[in-house]
Amino acid sequence: MPKIQFQGNSYLMDENENLLDGLLRQHARAPWSCRAGVCHSCMLRVTAGCAPDHAQSFLTAEQIKKGYILACQTKVAGDLSLALPTRDEVPGILTGLESLSATEVIIKLSTRLPFDVAVGEHITLVSNKGFEATYPISGCDSDLQTLECIIVRSAGDNPFSTWIHSEARAGDRLMVIKNG
Ligand code: FES
Repeated sequence: MPKIQFQGNSYLMDENENLLDGLLRQHARAPWSCRAGVCHSCMLRVTAGCAPDHAQSFLTAEQIKKGYILACQTKVAGDLSLALPTRDEVPGILTGLESLSATEVIIKLSTRLPFDVAVGEHITLVSNKGFEATYPISGCDSDLQTLECIIVRSAGDNPFSTWIHSEARAGDRLMVIKNG
């Protein structure tokens, strides 16, 4: 049985078990959201062992080089030691919200400090109420320290999306966290 080391605990997995399912089944505090390889909430870093190839198919070359995998896309084939991603974080402020459709809002953010990210990279946004979700960057200007993300109104339980679509206003503060 493959053994997973994560956050100081050991978890025994069935051969070829989905990593995220196996961790959650054993009550590990593993982050996740979409389970489809899209949101990158479940990204973990392999600190010992070999990352299965398919576990990295939705990741950038840079993320692969650093040993990241998506737990929801990983079938466990051997022993692994895993860690949560290292994250850079800066305070930010909402400078604008613009409705794109009935279900999509583009939000504009200004970060207080330089923040080295690129379009397509994923960031985690944490609202001033503690709601948190991960989104790809749809636009950014590193000189002006501005970012844009498209927030889709979530059909499921996503308090951050609900907050953006119902309450958030320009001037609200949030934390912007770089994943990976
Ligand atoms: S849970 Fe969204 S990519 Fe894995």
